[in-house]
Amino acid sequence: MKLSVIGCGYLGAVHAAAMASLGHDVVGIDVDQAKIEALSAGRAPFFEPGLPELLLAGVESGRLRFSTDTADAAGAAVHFIAVGTPQKAGSTAADLRYVDAAVDGLLPYLSVGDIVVGKSTVPVGTAERLAEIVAPTGAILAWNPEFLREGFAVQDTVAPDRLVYGLPPAAADAEAVRTALDEVYAAALTTGTPLVATGFATAELVKVAANAFLATKISFINAMAEISEVTGADVTELADAIGYDARIGRRFLNAGVGFGGGCLPKDIRAFAARAEELGRGESVAFLKEVDSINLRRRQRVVDIAVEELGGSAYQKRVAVLGLAFKPDSDDVRDSPALDVAVLLNGLGARVLAYDPEANANAKRLHPQLHFAASAEEAVADADLVVVVTEWKEFRALTPEQLAPLVAAKVIVDGRNCLDATAWREAGWTYRGLGRP
Ligand code: UDX
Repeated sequence: MKLSVIGCGYLGAVHAAAMASLGHDVVGIDVDQAKIEALSAGRAPFFEPGLPELLLAGVESGRLRFSTDTADAAGAAVHFIAVGTPQKAGSTAADLRYVDAAVDGLLPYLSVGDIVVGKSTVPVGTAERLAEIVAPTGAILAWNPEFLREGFAVQDTVAPDRLVYGLPPAAADAEAVRTALDEVYAAALTTGTPLVATGFATAELVKVAANAFLATKISFINAMAEISEVTGADVTELADAIGYDARIGRRFLNAGVGFGGGCLPKDIRAFAARAEELGRGESVAFLKEVDSINLRRRQRVVDIAVEELGGSAYQKRVAVLGLAFKPDSDDVRDSPALDVAVLLNGLGARVLAYDPEANANAKRLHPQLHFAASAEEAVADADLVVVVTEWKEFRALTPEQLAPLVAAKVIVDGRNCLDATAWREAGWTYRGLGRP
């Protein structure tokens, strides 16, 4: 099928490359010239495992092209809107200017019967509004939320755990969308991927509800970590024990410095803001608590660090291992790890930070920080080591390996990803979160 993808960020670039790998003929459009040049040369503009290989193969096959000119989307049967919906400046609501601009920009190139498919995460009600804008062209709008996780984006796009079609109200239009999307996702559908076909509002809500649930699960266990801290309980053992209940499940019950990234934090805020607009603020008022618990954990890591530094971080050497909001990503948007580095730096600590992939992005946002080229360099002569992103290479660090490098054998495990017993037995002061 001939497809266009408007917006080539974490979502759109992966979607475009994945669709080309499935045999579709894809053009990716973005306003960012540098991004388009990189993608056209088969280079990923951000770190995402598996994406470089897919891009190269797609570009070389001729099935994947990129352009800054929306006119190149003309002729595609299905147009995906995959631009960002960040948090609006000075508000908790979503900023829809990129979605609106993408749709407006596409209008002159749409033909009768084209399908415009929104993938961006939007406040409920957006699809209905956009459908009216698209209607005069004879194209049909649909919503098809994306659930990809960074670090697993390729796999989540090629083989998603479910597909959701938000179909328009008119039966004939709904049928046309369904036929088109079934062809787009034929590979996933033939392997039995569950499909939920529904209306606009449900499709829009599925995405924010899923992210709200995940955020709530993480904040729940972090709240238990706060209680564990004043009772001597161990939240990791607590999570194991409750996680054996299949109704609860162990996944997304890792207590630590909390969630970040380009989705969970802004999505729960935008959801609460939208619910208030709808007069149902109280229904998701708990999401504000979820957000507060989450943000408190960043400060908690800093407080533990200061405590271990004898009450003041001033002029102390602190190695911060991790800057990305999660491993296998270079994304530092709303990253708890980066926040911890910035807060410690603000307290006068001599912070030396290292992330295997996110140093450059962190430096762009916070040029006042100092960066190391390796974990070993970061911890050299450190008075304290803080682990805030659970990269595999940090989880593999041993107390014996770091002991000769540091000035003091003190480690704060902001992700509860290290073996506390092993570090303590090797003579280190080990501090986890919600653990004695
Ligand atoms: C999330 C959703 O998982 C995905 O379905 C949606 O499409 C986009 O948002 P992503 O932002 O890539 O994906 O990250 P995710 O793996 O969900 O992790 C989010 C944050 O939660 C990370 O900062 C992670 O470190 C943190 N987290 C996750 C925890 O603190 N504890 C956990 O147990 C799990």
